[in-house]
Amino acid sequence: MESMKNRRTIRKYTSENIPDTLLKELLEVAARASNTGNMQLYSVVITRDKANKEKLAPAHFNQPMITTAPVVLTFCADANRFVKWAEQRNAVAGFDNFQTFIASTIDAMLFAQSFCNAAEEKGLGICYLGTTAYNADQIIEALSLPRLVVPIVTVTVGYPDGMPEQPERLSLEAVIHQETYQDYTPEAIDALYHDKEELEVNKQFVRENDKETLAQVFTDVRYTKANNEHFSEVLLKVLEEQGFLK
Ligand SMILES: Cc1cc2nc3c(=O)[nH]c(=O)nc-3n(C[C@H](O)[C@H](O)[C@H](O)COP(=O)(O)O)c2cc1C
Repeated sequence: MESMKNRRTIRKYTSENIPDTLLKELLEVAARASNTGNMQLYSVVITRDKANKEKLAPAHFNQPMITTAPVVLTFCADANRFVKWAEQRNAVAGFDNFQTFIASTIDAMLFAQSFCNAAEEKGLGICYLGTTAYNADQIIEALSLPRLVVPIVTVTVGYPDGMPEQPERLSLEAVIHQETYQDYTPEAIDALYHDKEELEVNKQFVRENDKETLAQVFTDVRYTKANNEHFSEVLLKVLEEQGFLK
């Protein structure tokens, strides 16, 4: 509970390496996560080699964590292994569809998050990189991912170099609904986002980006409609090519 309460994303790492034994132990415990039908529709690619990290970096828009973290983990939705097993055992798997893609994405994320919980509990720092799903085509190429394997999320791991401020969260009231969903009135939205908008760090964010509101920083700068639509197209094409949209 304490490590989960105190956690924050770590984007700067010391040069200390992560022993293979520790990494294996963390992945072993992460594999205890619940998963669809115990089929374990996921894989993880471990990147430690400098040249291979450099190969991945452009796909992550050169976010520095890729080349500065001792370990880069690419978590993949993976129906390939299971389907191969089925084929070898006279079983016909109908897994080349969107349903299986979602199931394997859920499995990959639960595995990834369980790894992160365990790693943070052991004093390591992690950063998720969502660029994996944006440039999945480039990552497939860099990691030689076969049909029915799609990279979902990347996690950089290392020993923290400094401790950034813990970012705020909305109050729990914002995210829970008792029994049925109570839709948000304009007054509720004002109240729930008030503290976030009043934080100096977020006000600074608005000024730096020359915007009127914090919401505009997200919609006009960080997660634009044009980008969202472009990367949706890339991802749909990837799903088609990797055999998940039959
Ligand atoms: C799916 C996902 C993708 C993310 N992608 C990035 C990323 O590309 N770069 C980055 O610096 N942080 C990334 N993050 C980290 C979030 O920005 C971070 O979790 C959030 O701001 C809350 O901060 P905290 O984890 O320190 O509480 C990602 C997190 C998730 C869950």
